[in-house]
Amino acid sequence: YSIPKPYNEPNKQYAANSPERAALDGALSDLKSKLPLQTPRWSHGQVNSWEGKTASVPVPSKHTQSFSDYPCLTATDVTHAIEDALAAKEAWQDMPFTYRAAIFLRAAELITTKYRYEITAATMLGQGKNAWQAEIDAAAELADFFRFNVAIAQKIYEKQPTLGTPGHHTRNDYRPLEGFVYAISPFNFTAIGGNLVSVPAIMGNVVLWKPSPSNVYASSIVYRILLEAGLPPNVVQFLTGDAELITNTIFEHCDFAALHFTGSSNVFRSLFAKAAQGVVTHTFREYPRMVGETSGKNFHLVHSSADISSAVRHTIRAAFEYAGQKCSACSRLYLPQSRAQAFLNVMKEEMQLVTVGQPEDYSAFLGPVINQQSFQKISQAIDEANKDPDIECVIGGTYDGSEGYFIQPTMYVARKPDHWLFNRELFGPVLGVYIYPDDHFEELLTDIDQQGGGLALTGAIFARDQRIVELAERKLRYAAGNLYVNCKTTAALIGQQTFGGSRSSGTNDKAGSENLLMRFVSPRTLKEEF
Ligand code: ALA
Repeated sequence: YSIPKPYNEPNKQYAANSPERAALDGALSDLKSKLPLQTPRWSHGQVNSWEGKTASVPVPSKHTQSFSDYPCLTATDVTHAIEDALAAKEAWQDMPFTYRAAIFLRAAELITTKYRYEITAATMLGQGKNAWQAEIDAAAELADFFRFNVAIAQKIYEKQPTLGTPGHHTRNDYRPLEGFVYAISPFNFTAIGGNLVSVPAIMGNVVLWKPSPSNVYASSIVYRILLEAGLPPNVVQFLTGDAELITNTIFEHCDFAALHFTGSSNVFRSLFAKAAQGVVTHTFREYPRMVGETSGKNFHLVHSSADISSAVRHTIRAAFEYAGQKCSACSRLYLPQSRAQAFLNVMKEEMQLVTVGQPEDYSAFLGPVINQQSFQKISQAIDEANKDPDIECVIGGTYDGSEGYFIQPTMYVARKPDHWLFNRELFGPVLGVYIYPDDHFEELLTDIDQQGGGLALTGAIFARDQRIVELAERKLRYAAGNLYVNCKTTAALIGQQTFGGSRSSGTNDKAGSENLLMRFVSPRTLKEEF
């Protein structure tokens, strides 16, 4: 069995009257007719009946409607899940790599064929994405993660010592971690759950997976696909319910070996504290690996030499696509005084085409934010900003939560680069702008580096002057883990741009990289003499 060369899954375009649009509409109607969708309780790879407590999440674009119900596992259920996973570990780690690889490659095929429209439709309704945003996530990026992670794993296994001495044989044994991996996935990308689980599992680990409640249903489709693709029962356990209860039960277990996390930096910090406690009390067999990709307060820096219309288009997409809820979304914009008015004029004109609407409405550029809590946080920030004499609202500044959690794309110009607009992560379609004097460009680089609330995920520089690009790349060395030149902060493509940031944005182990997969192995060196 040879591993095929990975490739980026081409995106469907969903043009009007196309067969793919009809198929997606069919999948949407089907899901809508079944609301609220029932997330099953799996054990031993089977769907079991659930008589315990359940919880539910609303449709973000129509919050009177419940989107999905899911079981709330008890501490005993979680303990059983850990035991079942550990019991499956030996056979899984002993399985030849090519067999494990075949399961994930088969899953990628199932995603892009049989389940493409169902998973895309579930991501539209449950996460409030429009068709294109859901397609690039739940169909393309998810399949890409499976295919590329398999290819990366193969490269790792092939890495063996190049030198030898006659009579001796040395080899590297890429052992999975001793114990289990805990994966916590976020609401905003269905694909990320697939990455958080597949990376450790491909390397022979067993995984306890707790998706965000707001992504529980689409994640359950991913889980179903993995089982259908041949993942042995119990290798991955799908956990739903109270996050604290699940986490506390897991962090009390001696076999907790690693956390694979994507979410907010506050939650990641609290998980670090819990893990540290377990280390101090010798609860765990190993020092757990803590791998996290967390928050962002990402910037677009426009220089006076930039192509303004191109910078505007990139900024609109980075700040407002998916209502600014990508961890890579741009929420800080720096404009040179000499070009600021031109930029704002073009931006205002282009923004007339940017409409907010239901995810199923193909003319809507963005949909709602994810839930009441997020809506409240963003709308309160908008209220605060609208009253602030130090800032001026140039676009939007309104919201309407009566039907769904809708926030109008919003842009404020602030007079100081250290305003809270440039530091507080809102995770919504709100963009702070600072207009800098052209001759203060170098000082501005220091401001950009120091602002951003200690976060350093993505950033972009727009300039045609190559010396400026080089200067900014040097001075902004630690301000972003992914730095783009003349293109937006979003849309890293697996196999092309590895993804992740440092400082409070994460451990920067880079999704799509060999480094990330290596975090889930405990290498052994074997020297044999016969
Ligand atoms: N990987 C996603 C992006 O780059 C988050 O937008």
